[in-house]
Amino acid sequence: MKSPLVVTVTGAAGQIAYSLLPRIASGEVFGEDQPILLRLLEIEPGMKSLEGVVMELNDCAFPLLDSIEATSNLNNGFDGTNWALLVGSVPRKAGMERKDLLGINGKIFVGQGEAIARNAAEDINVLVVGNPCNTNCLIAMKNAPGIPQSRWHAMTRLDENRAKSALAQKAGCHSRDITRLAIWGNHSSTLYPDFENALINSDPVSKYIPDRAWLEGDFIKDVQQRGAAIIGARGLSSAKSAAHAAIETVRSLRATTPADDWHSVAIASDGSYGVEEGLICSFPIRSSGGISTIVQDVDLGEFGKIKFQATLNELLEERAMVAELLPK
Ligand code: NAD
Ligand code: LMR
Repeated sequence: MKSPLVVTVTGAAGQIAYSLLPRIASGEVFGEDQPILLRLLEIEPGMKSLEGVVMELNDCAFPLLDSIEATSNLNNGFDGTNWALLVGSVPRKAGMERKDLLGINGKIFVGQGEAIARNAAEDINVLVVGNPCNTNCLIAMKNAPGIPQSRWHAMTRLDENRAKSALAQKAGCHSRDITRLAIWGNHSSTLYPDFENALINSDPVSKYIPDRAWLEGDFIKDVQQRGAAIIGARGLSSAKSAAHAAIETVRSLRATTPADDWHSVAIASDGSYGVEEGLICSFPIRSSGGISTIVQDVDLGEFGKIKFQATLNELLEERAMVAELLPK
C-alpha cells in the first residue's frame, strides 16, 4: 500500500465540500490505489457542522480513507499537505459580481498562503475555488514565498463544462464530442469561452452552429452569467457542478492531456499571449508528468482578442483592488 497523500480541503463544512469530499475519499481523484489523509479546515463557527460531515465520511467506510483530521488551526490544516483545495470563503448573493467578494474573502488567502508556505509538503499543489478565484489565488501565491508559481491554480473548468454543454445543446451533439474549448481570462462575467478554436467531432464549431450572432451573443453571455442564473434559481451558488469541476481539474492536471485536446485552468502567466508574468489567468493548458503548460500559437482572431483584453483588464483591476494584500 502507498503511503497516504495528504489532501486539505478548506470550507469543509460548506456546500461544495459536501459534494467533493466523498469523491476524494472514494479514490476518484487521486487513484484507486492511493490512500488519502483528509485534512478538513474550517473556521470556528463551522466546526460543529463539520463534526457531522466527519461522521458521515466515517460512516461511508471508504477503503482508501486512511484518516480524517478536522481543524480550525491553519498550521495544522496544511501540515504536510500534498494537495490543497481552497474552497472556504463566502459565496456571492444575487445581484453581486464575484469581485464584490474581494473585501471579505481576499484576506483569507493571505493567511492561507503563509500557512501553506510554512507547513505544506515540498510537492504541494493548490487549486483555488473560493471566489473571486483568480485573484484569491494570486493573493495566496504572493504570500507563499518559496513555493513555485507553477503549483498554483484557480478553477475555470466549470465554465469550460458549461460552455461545452451549451454548444452541445445548440448543435444537437453530446458535450463529449466537443474538444479544445478554452476559457480565457477571469472566472467572472467577463470570461471568454473560445468557440472559434473549439472543435465538434474534430470540425470547427461553425460547421454545426452557423449562427454566428448566437455564438457571439447569447452563448457567451449565458456562460458568463451561468453562476448568477444558478444563484437565481437555487438561492445558493452552484455546488455539485463546482465540486465536479474541481475533481476534473485535479485529474486533468495530474494526467497527460490527449495530444488533440486541452483543458482550461487559470495559472500564473509566463508572459504568453502578452499576459503579464505572474497574473493568474485562464488559458488552454496541456499537462504531462505533473507539469502544465500554456498551449502556444492559438489564434484568437480579432473578436477573441477584444474579448480576451476585456477580461484581462478586469484581472488587472482586481489586482489593483487588493494591492495591499500583495507583498512586494
Ligand atoms: P458555503 O458557504 O456553503 O461554504 C463555505 C464554507 O467555507 C463555510 O462552511 C464557511 O464556514 C467556510 N469558510 C469561510 N471562511 C473560511 C476560512 N477562512 N477558512 C476555512 N473555511 C472558511 O459556500 P460554497 O457554496 O461551498 O462556496 C465556496 C466558495 O466557492 C464561494 O466563494 C463560491 O463563490 C465559490 N465557488 C467557486 C466556483 C468556481 O467555479 N471557481 C464555483 C462555485 C462556487
Ligand atoms: C459559479 O460560477 O457558479 C460560482 O463562481 C458561483 C458564483 O458566484 O457564480
